[in-house]
Amino acid sequence: MEFKKIGIIGASTMGAGLVQHIANCGYEVVFRARKQSSVDGALKHIEGQYDFMISRGWLEEGKKAENMARIQGSTDLEIMAEADIVIEAASENMETKKELFAELDKICKPGIVLATNTSSLSITEIASVTERQERVVGMHFFNPAPVMKLVEVVPGYNTSDETVEIVKKLSEALQKTPIVINEAPGFVVNRMLIPMINECVGVLAEHIASAEDIDRAMQLGANHPMGPLALADLVGLDVCLSIMEVLHKELGDDKYRPHPLLRKMVRAGKLGQKTGEGFYKYNSK
Ligand code: 3HC
Repeated sequence: MEFKKIGIIGASTMGAGLVQHIANCGYEVVFRARKQSSVDGALKHIEGQYDFMISRGWLEEGKKAENMARIQGSTDLEIMAEADIVIEAASENMETKKELFAELDKICKPGIVLATNTSSLSITEIASVTERQERVVGMHFFNPAPVMKLVEVVPGYNTSDETVEIVKKLSEALQKTPIVINEAPGFVVNRMLIPMINECVGVLAEHIASAEDIDRAMQLGANHPMGPLALADLVGLDVCLSIMEVLHKELGDDKYRPHPLLRKMVRAGKLGQKTGEGFYKYNSK
């Protein structure tokens, strides 16, 4: 299958990162956000990222205009009618995703793959609202999307082998390494990573060490590229909490109980980099 135009649903951290990366890989991208301010914000953010890449010598100056010309954003889901594959990166909410997939199934070309970047929800359940369950699959990218090399490819109960091959091929074309895994809450990475972050929140709440020292410990003692609390700020504390909630609910084991401090910080709107404050403060917001 040829991909000329790739559709992305959502324009926040993962959606915008995917649009940025996919355009930089030479594909046309259409993306949809619910509000015009989000469409405009994402375009501005992506342009800023290309400027940053140019300043670091990672992108040739002339490529920025070429990449931006390949990107088209809209608030109208109908824009997905032109796409050769759609990757949904909307909020981590089952009802939202089901509504989107039911609509996409009607709007999109017959037979094209509808992938979801869900970080923990059931692919089978998302696919169940469509008439093309064999064409629905998990395609889980990591943050920052332009940088992280892994894609977890997650077939649902009815996903065809052909669909799995299509998204493996696309992952490779996007310079990523796909691994095919069985559907399970949190898949592979988040099943291990997010409980570790949750445990770090506990270590902080028990005053065992400061946020800086917890992060330093894992960077220097376990060679992590960044500390787990800084990583939580990058991923979003709301995203970490929702993944812990899925693990707790689906696996039924109290070892997955979200730490009350994580819950409290989300309630206070301290979501990390995107709100200007999480475990650390950020100047840009
Ligand atoms: N856009 C495009 N490329 C970028 C970029 C950007 N904004 N920022 C960095 N890069 C690329 C550069 O081209 C560079 O490539 P090169 O080595 O070929 O020149 C490479 O990334 C490294 O750049 P830096 O040297 O500036 O970056 P650092 O060495 O400081 O690493 C990091 C930054 C990659 C973010 C690193 O700290 C890291 O790996 N952190 C951990 C991230 C992680 O664990 N993510 C997973 C989160 S979990 C998740 O996403 C799942 C979800 O479901 C919750």
